[in-house]
Amino acid sequence: MSTSPLVSLAIAVAPLVAVGCGGGATGAPTTAGPATPVEAAPDPAHHGHHGHHGADMPHRFEDADAWAKVFDDPARDAWQRPDEVVALLALAPGMVVADVGAGTGYFEGRIAAAVGPDGEVIATDVEPDMVRYLGERAAHDGWTNVRALQVEPGDPGLAPASVDRVLIVDVWHHLDDRAGYAARLATALRPGGWVAVVDFTGDAERGPPRDHRLAPEAIIADLTAGGLVAELATETLPDQYVVIGRLPDGR
Ligand SMILES: C[S@@+](CC[C@H](N)C(=O)[O-])C[C@H]1O[C@@H](n2cnc3c(N)ncnc32)[C@H](O)[C@@H]1O
Repeated sequence: MSTSPLVSLAIAVAPLVAVGCGGGATGAPTTAGPATPVEAAPDPAHHGHHGHHGADMPHRFEDADAWAKVFDDPARDAWQRPDEVVALLALAPGMVVADVGAGTGYFEGRIAAAVGPDGEVIATDVEPDMVRYLGERAAHDGWTNVRALQVEPGDPGLAPASVDRVLIVDVWHHLDDRAGYAARLATALRPGGWVAVVDFTGDAERGPPRDHRLAPEAIIADLTAGGLVAELATETLPDQYVVIGRLPDGR
């Protein structure tokens, strides 16, 4: 098998589907032009499992070096607006931030700079090659306060009351028990902490296949069921929405 996953995906998928979570979720155009890859393998049998990482789910992000060309494509900045996303987190030096499903570390440099040497970024992923890649990238780029952490699909892997913020970009629709996951995130928050979930709007041209997208109301419901007080954030992202989930007063 000499064809790269990105090339084979690009050949196999239609344009809308092609802006799936991987390419779409992060949706950045690739150097291959319209041949934007998707996270789902071209094998249609895998397509129905989009959004889930159950035991039967093949690894779809196993070639981190290849995905880095998509996730970290500089063209992504134009629509992802990473400075705005990070600004929404209202970070301060010394904070501990979890980036759940951090992928190749698109946001890590900005978060690491905002929390400074006394803070920490816990960049989690279920995919071992993503964790390998991100750890190497942190060392290479001098992100001494970034820790790459491999986690299980249903468990954020964060200690109770250990983080000030959780960022989770283009990942929520992958979760199986979303309310349960929200509850685990709530447990991991320190007092005053919050979670920011970023995902694609239903009408965005990039993003996962439309039938796999979640309305912001669904994410608000998930976070609420998990014990958080959730609302839509005000932002200017062209293709995505941001839901903020805070600990209730007194927690
Ligand atoms: C579309 S990528 C987004 C990566 C990154 N958040 C970004 O915006 O560039 C989704 C990432 O989430 C990871 N992922 C999927 N399900 C996960 C889970 N349950 N827990 C942690 N990471 C997960 C995948 O391995 C992949 O790296």
